[in-house]
Amino acid sequence: MTGPKRSLSGIRVTGRFHIGNYLGAGINYVRLQDEYESYIFVADYHTLTTKPNARDFTDDLYDMVMDLIAIGVDPERTVIYRQSAIPMVAELTLLLAMVTPLSWVQRVPTFKEKVRDQPENVNLGLFEYPVLQAADIIIVKGNAVPVGRDQAAHVELTREITRRFNRTYRPVFPEPQLVLNPDAPIVKGTDGKAKMSKSLNNIVGVTDPPDVIRKQVMSMVTDVKRTYKTQPGHPRSCNVCAFYKFFFDDWEHYWDLCRKAQIGCYDKKKLLAERIIERFAPFRERRSGLTRERIDQVLESGAERAHAIAGQTMVEVRDAVGLPPYFRA
Ligand code: TRP
Repeated sequence: MTGPKRSLSGIRVTGRFHIGNYLGAGINYVRLQDEYESYIFVADYHTLTTKPNARDFTDDLYDMVMDLIAIGVDPERTVIYRQSAIPMVAELTLLLAMVTPLSWVQRVPTFKEKVRDQPENVNLGLFEYPVLQAADIIIVKGNAVPVGRDQAAHVELTREITRRFNRTYRPVFPEPQLVLNPDAPIVKGTDGKAKMSKSLNNIVGVTDPPDVIRKQVMSMVTDVKRTYKTQPGHPRSCNVCAFYKFFFDDWEHYWDLCRKAQIGCYDKKKLLAERIIERFAPFRERRSGLTRERIDQVLESGAERAHAIAGQTMVEVRDAVGLPPYFRA
């Protein structure tokens, strides 16, 4: 392909952004906009694998797109759309399924996790989830895929499916590359145990009001081996200290104070909360100016642009597979 390289990412509808989303992938959405022609979509088809009625996640969907813009994804530079606005992605999923061996999908770890999480709803859509993801990526001929670490296996599978498609027919698609944020700490939630996740109620939101952020940060589990502030701390195993690495340039200074028992966990959390509030002030500011009407506009113009690209790709795909153009026998 000639022209600028494309980056693409999708986000399942879970609601507002938290620090884990932001550090894992969000920062890269913003960074890549300068270098790539960027596409980000709301993966509403994917969300249906766990929540079967899209109306039930409409509010979360708006919240998410607002947060996306709040963190700096600029709808002028990044094409933002809803996956289901591009139904050709479903057709491409079907065609990719024909070149995807069952065994490749069976070994995807996220499927096994879902079977564990929702044994009452192990649907075929869940199984096909990574094939749909591959279609998302290659339908716009994405070259770079900024995501969190948990998505690495899906992007790897996308590469394999892409190679298989290109070999079976002809080289229609570029092989996409995974883009991780190498500096992203493994962000644990306020419980200090599990990964930050809305369903576990252990998040710190990036556009939450200051008093909410304060409450979330003050509830963080700290150094469990330290009972009194007169005891030396263990920054390496302390979740709050892990956040310092990201929010303070002079984090080493604070780690040192902690080791020497010159700062207590409570004070460390207070400082961290204020720093996070300050760092995310521009996000709150941007978000406060957004309305649902504005989001509708963004999604509509994004859908138009993505639709055009996907349409071109599908002309090539159908021809490569030996199918006639749409509406012809
Ligand atoms: N599976 C991704 C997640 O859970 C969301 C997603 C769907 C995606 N399609 C994508 C990410 C395409 C990158 C590219 O976060």
